[in-house]
Amino acid sequence: MADTESKTPDPLPWLEEMPPRQIVGELDRYIVGQSAAKRAVAIAIRNRWRRMQAPENIRDEITPYNIIMIGPTGVGKTEVARRLARLAGAPFLKVEASKFTEVGYVGRDVESMIRELVDVAITMVRTEREDDLWPQAEEKAEARLLDLLLPAAPAGPGAKGQGSEEDPEAARREKARAKLQKDLKEGKLDDREVEVELSPQNFPMPEWNQPPEGSQDPGFSMGEWLQGIIPKQKKRRTVKIPDARRILVDEELRRMVDMDDVVNEALDRSENHGIVFVDEIDKIAGERSTTGPDISREGVQRDLLPIVEGSTVQTRYGYIRTDHILFIAAGAFHVSKPSDLIPELQGRFPIRVELTPLTEEDFVRIMTEPESALTKQYQALVAAEGSTLEFTADGVKEIARVAFVANDKMENIGARRLHTVMSTLMEEILFELPEGGKRTITLDAAAVTEKLKSVVENDDLRRYIL
Ligand SMILES: Nc1ncnc2c1ncn2[C@@H]1O[C@H](COP(=O)(O)OP(=O)(O)OP(=O)(O)O)[C@@H](O)[C@H]1O
Ligand SMILES: [Mg+2]
Repeated sequence: MADTESKTPDPLPWLEEMPPRQIVGELDRYIVGQSAAKRAVAIAIRNRWRRMQAPENIRDEITPYNIIMIGPTGVGKTEVARRLARLAGAPFLKVEASKFTEVGYVGRDVESMIRELVDVAITMVRTEREDDLWPQAEEKAEARLLDLLLPAAPAGPGAKGQGSEEDPEAARREKARAKLQKDLKEGKLDDREVEVELSPQNFPMPEWNQPPEGSQDPGFSMGEWLQGIIPKQKKRRTVKIPDARRILVDEELRRMVDMDDVVNEALDRSENHGIVFVDEIDKIAGERSTTGPDISREGVQRDLLPIVEGSTVQTRYGYIRTDHILFIAAGAFHVSKPSDLIPELQGRFPIRVELTPLTEEDFVRIMTEPESALTKQYQALVAAEGSTLEFTADGVKEIARVAFVANDKMENIGARRLHTVMSTLMEEILFELPEGGKRTITLDAAAVTEKLKSVVENDDLRRYIL
């Protein structure tokens, strides 16, 4: 616990290297309660690292610890997944199962989730490589900018570098370049324009699903192939220095990043560390043996099954096995139950965790404790106008109470209600700032009651606004 307290914004350690307790600690920074779900997710993730340490003969037998999260609306199911995704290292994709049942679903490709996961991994690995190479790329770009502004002295007799005393022309030039270099670094030339060549190559690439012909051959180089399909013509454009710098850094990075290496690493990371979060899974569960939309629901489950069980999926970067991808499903299961899923699919999600409804006290904590809690967000908005926003403890309590009552009287939308109550509460303040100059606004219970009175007391208004 202690080491999560002292967390600084350094790069997070690789997710799977964290012991479960530490993963839970990371999630605790953003999500209140729901410890069963946090623990299950933490175990599932650490199990993948454990699997990789296991002897090879058993490694392939250890299947992922797939999870179904069950719980009412707005209690943190998606939030757990969203925060998990922010922790470093593992490619993460969130899909809504219901999108596969949309009108027009004619065997709409459920496998596309795996292709999207690989896309995420490619971007992730490429960005990491680029970050590593950034300082070098920037240096090269800076040198090219300098050349564009003032070409170096032509090589040849007379241009002898250090010994340029005999050549006043070259010496002057060197001096001018040095001065220019300094100004360039300090941003003094940012208004100047230079002409750069734009190469139209750009990731992400055109849409296609099949890996290229011959991509399974041992001699095939994905990197070269990618280079090959990129249009070759270049365009000249006159741009300001900061834009030119960006363009040149980009180009240097593209030249330096080894795409074969990126593709290999991304495929490996997707296979062994990828996480697919299938949200709204309850929407594809339903009474069987009925006609109508349920056929397509069950159809989606049937399409999902081989992916979760382990199969080979073709992506634009090559084939990947899905056996060890971790699947986390979530659903409110108001109407259907997990047992309404086809049995084979249920069997592939051995872990069930329930998320509990949130209490009024949870609301108070949600509003104040997480690093990006709502009260902190509004304080930051108000601070931008030079004013200060303060919430007293009883003020926060009152907001929680209003939200809780609204959930009780109307539809229970969980913590989402806090967003609607807070935005109603803050509307007038946010509209009026910065009028009245810099000041301190204190929201205590009385102020909250006063501001929300007209809405809370009017049934119709409440229904629309809160
Ligand atoms: N336990 C919690 N801790 C902190 N914030 C929470 C918590 N639960 C919900 N919230 C807040 O409420 C919002 C909605 O929660 P979330 O998206 O996780 O709902 P959900 O459980 O996925 O519901 P649904 O079934 O409707 O998709 C989140 O964006 C977050 O701001
Ligand atoms: Mg959700």
